[in-house]
Amino acid sequence: MATDDYVTESLRAVLVGCGGMSAAWLRAAKEIPGLELVGLVDVREEAARQRAEEFELAGARLDTDLTRTLEQLRPDAVFDCTVPEAHHSVTLEALRFGCHVLGEKPLADSMEHAREAVQAAHEAGRIYAVIQNRRYDPRIRRLRRLVASGGVGALTQANSDFYIGAHFGGFRDRMEHVLLLDMAIHTFDMARLITGADPVSVYCREWNPGGSWYDHDASAIAIFEMTGGLIYTYRGSWCAEGLNTSWEADWRLVGERGSITWDGRETIRAQAVSETGGFHSTLTDLPVPDPESADRHGGHGGLIREFVECVRTGATPETVCSDNIKSLAMVFAAIESSRRNAPVPVAW
Ligand SMILES: NC(=O)c1ccc[n+]([C@@H]2O[C@H](COP(=O)([O-])OP(=O)(O)OC[C@H]3O[C@@H](n4cnc5c(N)ncnc54)[C@H](O)[C@@H]3O)[C@@H](O)[C@H]2O)c1
Repeated sequence: MATDDYVTESLRAVLVGCGGMSAAWLRAAKEIPGLELVGLVDVREEAARQRAEEFELAGARLDTDLTRTLEQLRPDAVFDCTVPEAHHSVTLEALRFGCHVLGEKPLADSMEHAREAVQAAHEAGRIYAVIQNRRYDPRIRRLRRLVASGGVGALTQANSDFYIGAHFGGFRDRMEHVLLLDMAIHTFDMARLITGADPVSVYCREWNPGGSWYDHDASAIAIFEMTGGLIYTYRGSWCAEGLNTSWEADWRLVGERGSITWDGRETIRAQAVSETGGFHSTLTDLPVPDPESADRHGGHGGLIREFVECVRTGATPETVCSDNIKSLAMVFAAIESSRRNAPVPVAW
């Protein structure tokens, strides 16, 4: 990106897809100085109108057509809150108009579409980044910092358990690969952040357990081999009643000299070996980085803020598509492994 492409003054953005998630975006965007929502687009006209009223965006242009909106407004950025199947076409159209794009997860609805979007952003010299709001949770940043401090040594294993009895009652009840496609992308992306490792291969089994209120597989177990020989396991269900984990999952990280647990809520614990020789080693509790040490926070708001800053300065956001495609690749490889009932490489 050439220096004169940087947006130094007010950043003008169009938001497309005015459904459920758009409220979180518009709430966050209101708090960011110099960010102006100049247009709202939705194929359902009333959805855009409702959001404009709710967030007092009287000056914003409302439309059902993205291309017409981009032609008329020539914004700096497009915020994509549409459904996953529309992310590819919205992103390519926005890039064609020279816009930077921040989109909801997942990056795309297939690996082929994801690769095309990454390539298009590269060719356009524009940022395409993806909302992975859990990366902007201070507890995850503390956990990451604890791992990186080396107190438990190099990680050899990471386990995550996700068990929620979620009665959505909407499209998810009918959706194929519902847990892996709609939810596990968050947990897999967290695994990459926490361990600092990238995926190599996966063996996965999806199934729809007895008593499930979903049409398709709402449970899955996956074993990933990651770079550095680390093994990462995911066990999850969206139809497990009772003793639910948090939405952030329950984690155990095993290193060469100690272990870390995080219950996905407020409790992070770490122990490392201080003396060996007996049947059990002597262990010492390790200090956990305090909440103030979190370098990123704010969920959606934190991510949108970073994106705006990157558009202004030319820096690269943490969730840039060329990196985030690795988390999406974990999802599609897990689905493929389950279909074949065999381990498969994770490629992007
Ligand atoms: N980050 C998170 O925690 C989180 C949570 C829930 C949903 N999401 C993601 O957010 C996205 C939107 O989810 P939602 O729950 O708001 O869905 P939704 O169905 O409530 O809203 C989507 C909106 O997009 C509109 N739309 C669809 N195709 C369009 C197109 N081509 N052009 C313009 N408008 C179009 C629809 O009319 C609808 O109003 C999805 O990708 C979903 O996976 C993320």
